[in-house]
Amino acid sequence: MNYPSRVKIVDVGPRDGLQNEKSPVPASVKIELVHRLQDAGLKEIEVTSFVSPKWVPQMADALDVMAGLRRLPGVRYSVLTPNRQGFEAALPSKPDEIVVFASASESFSQRNINCSIAESIERFAPVVDAAKAAGIYVRGAISCAVGCPYEGEVAPAQVDMVARLMAGIGVLHIGVADTIGVGTPLKVQRAMEAALKHYALADISGHFHDTYGQALANTLATLQLGVWQFDTSIAGLGGCPYAKGATGNVATEDVVYMLHGMGIDTGIDLEKLVDAGQFISDFLGRKPNSRAATALLNRRLD
Ligand code: HMG
Ligand code: MG
Repeated sequence: MNYPSRVKIVDVGPRDGLQNEKSPVPASVKIELVHRLQDAGLKEIEVTSFVSPKWVPQMADALDVMAGLRRLPGVRYSVLTPNRQGFEAALPSKPDEIVVFASASESFSQRNINCSIAESIERFAPVVDAAKAAGIYVRGAISCAVGCPYEGEVAPAQVDMVARLMAGIGVLHIGVADTIGVGTPLKVQRAMEAALKHYALADISGHFHDTYGQALANTLATLQLGVWQFDTSIAGLGGCPYAKGATGNVATEDVVYMLHGMGIDTGIDLEKLVDAGQFISDFLGRKPNSRAATALLNRRLD
């Protein structure tokens, strides 16, 4: 098996992780989390979302969080923008990258962004054009790429269709997302292969929630296809407010531990990463949802 020698990790904890927290997390804590992640060596951080504060109240401070960042050269900061209004709100905060997010299932599209898949693509098209005109990179996400909380199993043909539509409007990179963490390795490989019909290996990433404990296995299965970019969440934070019961993304600490153990470089300092996870977990009053972090923290007590 030929594994890549280097993997790029995007920590989505400040956005995908925290968006699901019921109690407001102050902007200062979100900013400190981003700082700790970049100090641990993360080069890509998904910071926040410019979405409706009525839909996702936790992200209402998007501008404050972006404004408070101590930006490091070489680190890229991305934000979610589901429509023109979100993009225009995000623009003054100078994101390096925006994310438009569609769904492979119609029901989830309606519940998450209040429109059909086709309408979402129509909404994204001018956002993509405006972002590119402003020199901002455009990433896309395909939610529910293997399963949907409302429709059950999702066929690879749906991923194929959405990836084709995203490529058609000029989205530069696609993330294949198992939003509710129901995927298992072979199903995830089929979904990735469907997206790979429209995107090169260098322009595709995996985004796996860990609800059924499959996300690390799904990451390995995806690596075996040659994909080398993954979204992960510090301390395994999160879930999606419109995917009830779904837990956070695979913990960044677990993925980094696995990759380093395989001799794959991430540029991340695992001990500092564990500190970042402990910082946000302490704030939230719980333990990190990461086996590797738990083991490393226990070892410190020896
Ligand atoms: P809508 O209600 O259809 O929008 O929402 P609208 O255009 O009809 O406008 C209605 C109201 O929303 C208006 O305000 C607009 O100003 C406001 P009002 O006049 O009633 O006071 N509005 C906005 N406000 C702030 N920012 C905006 C914005 N747009 C309209 N950008 C919308 C459509 C998409 C905005 C809404 O459905 C929404 O915000 N949904 C939230 C979606 C979300 O954040 N989901 C979680 C992130 S996605 C995710 O987690 C999946 C991912 O991780 C991959 C995976 O795991 O699957 C990426
Ligand atoms: Mg997600």
